[in-house]
Amino acid sequence: MAIEYSPSNSQSSSTIEDVRNFWHNNPLWTGESDLPLGSKEFFEEHRRVVIEDGTVGVLDPRIFPTAANRKSVLDLGCGPGFWLVELWERGCQKLTAADLTQPALELARRRCEIYGVIAEFKIQNAEAMTFKDGEFSHVNCQGVIHHSPNTLSCIQEIARVLEPGGSASISVYYKNFFLRNWSSLNWIGKIFFAIGSRLKGRGREQIFKTSDVNEIVRLYDGAQNPVGKAYSQKEFEEMLKPYFEIEHVFFHFFPARSLPFKIPRFLHRFLDQNLPFMIYVFLRKKNT
Ligand SMILES: C[S@@+](CC[C@H](N)C(=O)[O-])C[C@H]1O[C@@H](n2cnc3c(N)ncnc32)[C@H](O)[C@@H]1O
Repeated sequence: MAIEYSPSNSQSSSTIEDVRNFWHNNPLWTGESDLPLGSKEFFEEHRRVVIEDGTVGVLDPRIFPTAANRKSVLDLGCGPGFWLVELWERGCQKLTAADLTQPALELARRRCEIYGVIAEFKIQNAEAMTFKDGEFSHVNCQGVIHHSPNTLSCIQEIARVLEPGGSASISVYYKNFFLRNWSSLNWIGKIFFAIGSRLKGRGREQIFKTSDVNEIVRLYDGAQNPVGKAYSQKEFEEMLKPYFEIEHVFFHFFPARSLPFKIPRFLHRFLDQNLPFMIYVFLRKKNT
């Protein structure tokens, strides 16, 4: 039974302090944007790119909690606060923003001020949170736990802080066809690199030339990123099943912005569904 992804490089020995240091020095969207950090334009550009590359222009409604679970919502690993605004606009109340690092919380706080979102901000490690058992009706956790050394502990903690009947929406990197076959397909990456495909900033210029699949996943968030893991659907579901009923599984994300030319929407939509790099799950806490 394959549970934790075991990268062959030094990722497996990285600690939570390594993760904290990286995200402290490289908050999400810094390095990629040229706009002033924390400005309205910075957040608007970030939102545009997240929605365009993440889900091809429209956020998938399956990511969000239903009315019954909107009364006390935790955004875990909030980063610069994108999801806080989206959750607030969809009627979520008593929002708590949590992240491993202070710079992320400061950016999230700034974003909430700009968009009139009321939230509490807390430093937390998803692997060992200080929240009480059953404190939340919903946990939103997008693109976070694949960066934590012990992803399984994060899942157990998400279940612990949820009330009975609570829901969770989680996404992690998905081992898609490319990643599963990277050892024989990395020549395609080299062609992409030769024609000018790049991810801007954060030291990621060489990503398409990389032959090691673990390095591709790790490098996506920056050259110094200590931990980045990708999961197959089976691996991810096996980690979740002891704690959650799985209500929806769905896939998205093709980083079209890395291509040297703009692709038409229909092609982006096709790639988003047929070569997705993220797996999303919507979960209900099990009554145990
Ligand atoms: C890729 S960003 C995602 C941010 C946000 N969820 C989003 O989707 O825009 C990852 C965030 O997770 C945070 N993070 C990583 N490991 C964490 C952990 N163990 N506990 C809490 N936050 C963590 C990082 O500090 C960073 O802000």
